[in-house]
Amino acid sequence: MPPGADEQPERPWWEGAVVYQIYPLSFCLADPDGRRARLERAAEPFADRLVEGAGDLEGIRRHLDHVASLGADAIWLSPFYPSPMADLGYDVSDYCDVSPLFGDLDGFDRLVAEAHGLGLKVLVDWVPNHTSDRHPWFLDARRSAASAHRDFYIWRDRDDSEPARPPNNWRRAFGEGPAWTFDDATGQWYLHLFLPGQPDLNWANAAVAEAMEEVLDFWLDHEVDGFRIDVAHALGKPDGLPDAPAGSATIPYSSQIDDRSTHEILRRLRRHTDRAARPPLLLGEVFLLETAKVAPYYGEGDELQLAFNFTPMYSRFSASSFRRRLTEIGEHLGSRGAVPTWVLSSHDASRHRSRYGGSMRRARAAAVLSLAMRGTVFLYAGEELGLEDAVVEGEAVLDPGGRDGCRAPIPWSPAPEHGWSLRGAAPFLPFPPEADRLDVETESSDPASMLALYRELTALRRRSPALRLGDLVLEEAGDDEVLAFSRSEGAERCLVLVNFAGSPRQVSLGHGLEVAACSGGDSGRSSPGGLFPGELGPEEAVICSWPPPGPGLRG
Ligand code: NOJ
Repeated sequence: MPPGADEQPERPWWEGAVVYQIYPLSFCLADPDGRRARLERAAEPFADRLVEGAGDLEGIRRHLDHVASLGADAIWLSPFYPSPMADLGYDVSDYCDVSPLFGDLDGFDRLVAEAHGLGLKVLVDWVPNHTSDRHPWFLDARRSAASAHRDFYIWRDRDDSEPARPPNNWRRAFGEGPAWTFDDATGQWYLHLFLPGQPDLNWANAAVAEAMEEVLDFWLDHEVDGFRIDVAHALGKPDGLPDAPAGSATIPYSSQIDDRSTHEILRRLRRHTDRAARPPLLLGEVFLLETAKVAPYYGEGDELQLAFNFTPMYSRFSASSFRRRLTEIGEHLGSRGAVPTWVLSSHDASRHRSRYGGSMRRARAAAVLSLAMRGTVFLYAGEELGLEDAVVEGEAVLDPGGRDGCRAPIPWSPAPEHGWSLRGAAPFLPFPPEADRLDVETESSDPASMLALYRELTALRRRSPALRLGDLVLEEAGDDEVLAFSRSEGAERCLVLVNFAGSPRQVSLGHGLEVAACSGGDSGRSSPGGLFPGELGPEEAVICSWPPPGPGLRG
């Protein structure tokens, strides 16, 4: 049959999928002996606390069943590559290997094969904007201004000013300071949008693109299904490297840079990966906090297939802010047929339960909200347990960007070492609060737990084409503090209601519809399988199914 009106275009696997982010340092330590043996052969030492108390790939492999039972479609692994760990792995010194801290390539292959066996796709982090200053390319570049890899990086002469003034006003991320470091040995400045130990690659040099495409091919040969591209929006630098506008000069330039040359780079990468036997997903981190600025990174369907949109993550927990976000997403992404992304927590920001004030009730409502969204939903390991940030102070501080709290180790059991093979050593960061109650083992046997709620929600999303793939239309609930939207696909419909207020609210729609999921637990107004009573409890969220040819939304 020729492609015609009756034929539904095939949807890519990531549309509507749930992706589970694993930060390898934080997930689980399972094989301390293997680590010791590998580190004896390694050239560079690591801090004791990482050696004794950080997670490894084996810990991830052993807990893949948890991810599968959570109902995720894919895992995304934050960096596990050789790295001096100045930015805890986002400073890569070898793109085509596994750090001895985490494991080895055989272990990685085993992990991928087992994930695939459980039906989980595997995305890896790819860090193309910068290398570590210990990467062989940079070591060579630094050797002399004439070295073969000099032009892999971005160098500028110094002017005559005293003291020496950096080539422009760009600020680096993490700590105060310019995005430039002067290299005494070769007498030039080099650019680093992040730490001085993370020199920016020069993507205007075709040799960089070629070398980095080889990295993608390497991991495709290791059967990965996609790449999360670190700071994808920063790859192209504006011609002449002009100053940032005076008004935003104190903001790190990495969250402002938005040059058109990046789009050509992304198109090139997409052409390259689309030629692969199994074209992978290119998911870009576009750290520009306006949906309108994120949207162009999908190109005309020829750049990123998915781009992170962080505006909801940095929004207040209120109906009006989420209504605004949904309107913007409809306007800017819907209009170009782009699949939106939803992230409430990650390794870069305070966990959303903490950000929303610590209330478990709110975190439960947020779980319903996020898993009812249109697009691809990203869960950050530990949010399914309702974890809050750990308090990390003084000597315990590790991250130059102040993000240790959300990277605390995942508790697997209530026992003192929480399922980590610590053998009496301290974990690399303290466990999060209530780790002896908010752990996988305890929550698995409690039908009222946050984990049980996440499992119900992902199962519902899998069963319901409307929730997974359907359109999203904002509805009026008759109360400003209640966010309402409907999802529909074919004949199936769902109505999602979220009460952001701390008091019960009557709503003008949904009465008598069947409740498919709700956040309130024992104290909620609704329960799954019951009929929606027309009232939401304080900070309660509900998903009702709207069976055809059922009543209209108005009760
Ligand atoms: C974004 C990553 O998510 C973050 O963790 C990292 O520090 C920066 N990019 C620099 O690579």
